[in-house]
Amino acid sequence: MTTSVHYAIVGSGNVGTALARLFARAGVPVGIANTRGPESLSPLTDSLGDTVRALPLPEALASDVIFMAIPFAAIQELGSNLPDWTGKIVVDTTNAHFSSGSEEVLQGRLSTAYAAEYLPGAEVVKAFNQLPANTLAAELEPGIGRRVIFVASDSEKASERIAALVDELGLAAVQLGRIDEGGRLIQVPNALVLRNLVERPLH
Ligand SMILES: NC(=O)c1ccc[n+]([C@@H]2O[C@H](COP(=O)([O-])OP(=O)(O)OC[C@H]3O[C@@H](n4cnc5c(N)ncnc54)[C@H](OP(=O)(O)O)[C@@H]3O)[C@@H](O)[C@H]2O)c1
Repeated sequence: MTTSVHYAIVGSGNVGTALARLFARAGVPVGIANTRGPESLSPLTDSLGDTVRALPLPEALASDVIFMAIPFAAIQELGSNLPDWTGKIVVDTTNAHFSSGSEEVLQGRLSTAYAAEYLPGAEVVKAFNQLPANTLAAELEPGIGRRVIFVASDSEKASERIAALVDELGLAAVQLGRIDEGGRLIQVPNALVLRNLVERPLH
């Protein structure tokens, strides 16, 4: 029987693992899947405790919010798993810039606009793509503040939902608006990429 979880991470490499660590640290339940099946994820899930559950890919894709932590070149294949993505939020962590041949594929489009074409009906949010995975997962020393995560989407509702989740994960969301406006700044190699910012309380 398939039991859907609210959040799922698809991809268990650098970014998928970093995200799983953030969820585990905050105690927010999440599923994680890859192409090789749940058994391959045991070393990771055993190290992170009960919060992170290994899932078969179809079960992960039944979630409401899916973190797409896969290579840019795999987006089309992932998208083909579902005929209709309506009702789902897909958080696009991919960066086309480092994928060979991506310029020909993109033809001037932003990578998130390309991704949205293969996820028909999904509300796509760009986030968690602009920092190296090890930085994303690294804990800040107490009292320093909260690491900033930029969030962009053409759906205001989806942007708000992911910003609230970012907050729940102990990070500070900065919403940038639409993908082709503020969101452009977090598409590699633009201005906010690799900016490791920390929000400190005002005094
Ligand atoms: N590395 C970074 O520091 C970093 C930082 C920010 C953004 N990014 C971007 O984030 C994305 C992921 O990067 P990464 O370094 O985490 O990659 P990675 O270490 O190579 O991991 C990729 C993961 O995607 C899974 N995968 C591939 N095709 C799939 C498919 N069709 N369906 C389901 N799962 C699939 C792989 O499954 P298997 O394990 O079964 O092979 C693997 O777990 C890339 O687009 C990258 O540009 C990377």
